[in-house]
Amino acid sequence: MRRVIVAGNWKMNKTAKEAAKFISELKPLVADVKKTGIVIGTPFTALESAVKEAAGSNVKIAAQNMNPNDNGAYTGEISPLMLKDLGVEYVILGHSERREYYGETDKFINEKVKAALKHGLKPILCVGEKLEERENGTTEKVVKEQTVGGLEGISAADMANVVIAYEPVWAIGTGKTASPAQAQEVHAFIRKLLTDLYGAEVAENVTVQYGGSMKADNAFELISQKDIDGGLVGGASLEAGSFAEIIKAGDSI
Ligand code: 13P
Repeated sequence: MRRVIVAGNWKMNKTAKEAAKFISELKPLVADVKKTGIVIGTPFTALESAVKEAAGSNVKIAAQNMNPNDNGAYTGEISPLMLKDLGVEYVILGHSERREYYGETDKFINEKVKAALKHGLKPILCVGEKLEERENGTTEKVVKEQTVGGLEGISAADMANVVIAYEPVWAIGTGKTASPAQAQEVHAFIRKLLTDLYGAEVAENVTVQYGGSMKADNAFELISQKDIDGGLVGGASLEAGSFAEIIKAGDSI
C-alpha cells in the first residue's frame, strides 16, 4: 500500500543553524511516528546541517530545486550529484513558484525528474492549477498536462520512487485551503491519469500529497480522503510544534 508522506517546504526560510535547531526540536516530537514518511525541504545552504542533524532519525531531507545536468557551465545552479553527495534523499521539482517566477516548463521539469531518478534522488513533482484556470474550468486539463509532461519517459519501475504533490496555486500561502472534497476530486483524477499511464497496480502505490494552506487543524480531514496521501506544507512547516501535529494527524489515519 502507498505511504503517507508529510513534507515541509521551507521555501526561502531558515539559515543552516536554524535548520539544525528546528530538526533537533522536531526529532523527539515525532520519534514514535513509524508509518508516515517525514521530509523537510530546506534551502540549499541548510542541506548539509539538516542532513547531519537528521542522521539516524526518521526525518529525511529534500532540496527544493535542482539543475538536471551533472555539472558544467550553469552559474548559480546545483546538480543532482551535489545533492547526493550531501546525503539528500528527495528533491521538490516543478513547484508553482518556480514555474511562475523562473519560467520553468514541463519539459525542463521532466528533465529534472529524469535526472533525479538517474541519480537515486526521489522527486516530489508539483502540479496544480491557478485560480483563473479553476474558474474557467481547465483544472483537469492543466493538471493533466503538468502530470503527463513531468512524467514523460519515466518507467513504471521508477514510479516507485516518485511522489506527486497536488498544490492548487490559489491555495498556496493564502489561507484558502481546497475543501477535502475539492482536493479529493483532483487527487482521484491524478490517480486515474496514473492508472492510464502505468496501470492500476503502479497507480495505487504512488503517494499523492496535497499542498496549499495545510495546517494542524485541517490536515486530518484532508489526509483522510481516499486519494490524499499526506501533505506538502509551506508556512505551517516552519515551526516544529505545528509541523509535528500535521505529521501525527497523517500518522493517525
Ligand atoms: P503553504 O502551506 O504556505 O500554503 O504553502 C504550500 C506550498 O507551496 C508547499 O510547497
